[in-house]
Amino acid sequence: MDLPALIKAGHLAKSFDGSVIEETKLQQFLDLLRSAPSSFNLQPWHFVVAATQASRERVANSMRGGFEANQSKVRSASHVIVFCSRMSLPQSHLDAVREEERVSGRFPGISIDQFWQNILLPSVAVHEYDARDTAKWLEKQTYLALGVALMGAAALGIDVAAMEGFHSRLLDADLGLRSQGYTSIVLLAIGRRTAEDHVTERPKPRLPVDQLFTFLE
Ligand SMILES: Cc1cc2nc3c(=O)[nH]c(=O)nc-3n(C[C@H](O)[C@H](O)[C@H](O)COP(=O)(O)O)c2cc1C
Repeated sequence: MDLPALIKAGHLAKSFDGSVIEETKLQQFLDLLRSAPSSFNLQPWHFVVAATQASRERVANSMRGGFEANQSKVRSASHVIVFCSRMSLPQSHLDAVREEERVSGRFPGISIDQFWQNILLPSVAVHEYDARDTAKWLEKQTYLALGVALMGAAALGIDVAAMEGFHSRLLDADLGLRSQGYTSIVLLAIGRRTAEDHVTERPKPRLPVDQLFTFLE
């Protein structure tokens, strides 16, 4: 596997052939997703995995009213992952993260409680009370998990299609996400692309280097 070459030549899938990803590979992929980094390791996400035709159809339903073009990808994928993000950080979530860090001994030699009290919780409060952007901040973390998923899938030879084209209001209601403090942010269909969906033959229209990068002397 040559990941840089894959990223350079690869494209997100436009159509899937309906085949099912083997279980061990799926588990490897989900394990990578679980390992994604986040600010303060807050992991403010939840991933709903639609593995059956019926559950993928529920996702496809959220594309009615403007995003029908995405439905075929969802219907022909092996699995669709709904990336959900927390809208706020309830005490129960903070406690769960802190407990994991305590058990795993995340910071050898320093007190977890001191770190949380002096650094983490004040930063959370800045987002909550000063910037008042907690939901946006957490959403950014969830997009990082999407980035890890895109890289991880490429490394494992899984084809993917990321989709923002769906109505989160519809999907949240169907999956009961909002009552749990989550909202759906972005979808990732995974599977095997169709033979017609050539990986390398499509152009990659990217902005020129001098427009994208500034090199300081
Ligand atoms: C966060 C995100 C959301 C996207 N949403 C959609 C979508 O709803 N429907 C779609 O057909 N493509 C979607 N795409 C695919 C992009 O349009 C595509 O990746 C981009 O045009 C670059 O093309 P390439 O993948 O061939 O390099 C999305 C991509 C990303 C990263």
